[in-house]
Amino acid sequence: MSETSGFPFVRSQRLRSSSNIRDLVSENNITMNDLVMPIFVTEDQDKDLKINKMPGIFRKKECDIIKEVEILINKGIKSIALFPKVDPQKKNNGGDESTNSNNLICRCLRMLSKEFPNFPIICDVALDAYTLSGHDGLIDENGKILNDLTINKLAEMSLNFARAGAKIIAPSDMMDGRIKIIRNCLEKNNYEDICIISYSAKYCSELYKPFREALGSEKNLGSSSKEYYQLDVRNTLNAIRKIHEDISEGSDIIMVKPASFYLDIIKEAKEKINVPIAAYQVSGEYYMLKMASLNEIFNFKNVVVESLNCIKRAGASLIFSYFTEEVSEWLKY
Ligand code: PBG
Repeated sequence: MSETSGFPFVRSQRLRSSSNIRDLVSENNITMNDLVMPIFVTEDQDKDLKINKMPGIFRKKECDIIKEVEILINKGIKSIALFPKVDPQKKNNGGDESTNSNNLICRCLRMLSKEFPNFPIICDVALDAYTLSGHDGLIDENGKILNDLTINKLAEMSLNFARAGAKIIAPSDMMDGRIKIIRNCLEKNNYEDICIISYSAKYCSELYKPFREALGSEKNLGSSSKEYYQLDVRNTLNAIRKIHEDISEGSDIIMVKPASFYLDIIKEAKEKINVPIAAYQVSGEYYMLKMASLNEIFNFKNVVVESLNCIKRAGASLIFSYFTEEVSEWLKY
């Protein structure tokens, strides 16, 4: 070893010796450009706005949606993802309300796109909010998913959303071939500019539980599992394969979900593909960080910013996060 190699000539702490230097050498910085706020909307007669498993998040009533979204736009939020809590009376085995061109989401879209024509609204495409089973697709009498019938329904739903003003369609159902059918249907109807964010690497996770309360699908799903169509948490290959499939079928952005337990998948996707990657910091991740902060185990702001910077560092270009509105208060640049 020569005289000048290694310590003390090399001290990596020099690059961390002041906050300005740390900022100058930082490789990732979460900004409002990275964040999407998921929103739960409910029908006006629904008085139940509180979500017990998501402290601090409330469902928004349809009649308040313009006002609520205006607040978010004024906070610098770049996009929202809409999720419906459908009136239980409107759910059936066929999930028929999903393709009603005047359903809750279509009504909200029409109001919002008229009021805020340049604000991109992301619409979830899956049947779980609409089916009695709480599954993302149609099922047969044995509970088996009917993939090919489901994807036609998803295409009809997507076209309705596009007609009502959605700029981005986000199929979260994990059926095979859905991107192809949806993309074909949009092209045929001259909606060639609609972006598709496909939930490609969507794992069968325990971390979606609070979301199912928010959506009102918890009791419908009961103890039934989505493991037939969502990815096996033990695997990587199936994620990469599904991502490639979705891109080849016309997806513009692919999603990895959940985020924090799945940073390896984000990183691997980043290395292997050439479309932007979205990551979804899901309801269970929200719950863990929020509750630990409310119990004063974590400093809320520090842990949220840390979690988002880590998701970004792994390779996500955009992050769906329930913290987005709170983060907008801290990131005023
Ligand atoms: C359903 C859907 C889920 C989420 C988004 N879309 C739940 C599920 O697959 O059961 C989860 C989001 C979250 O947990 O925040 N299509």
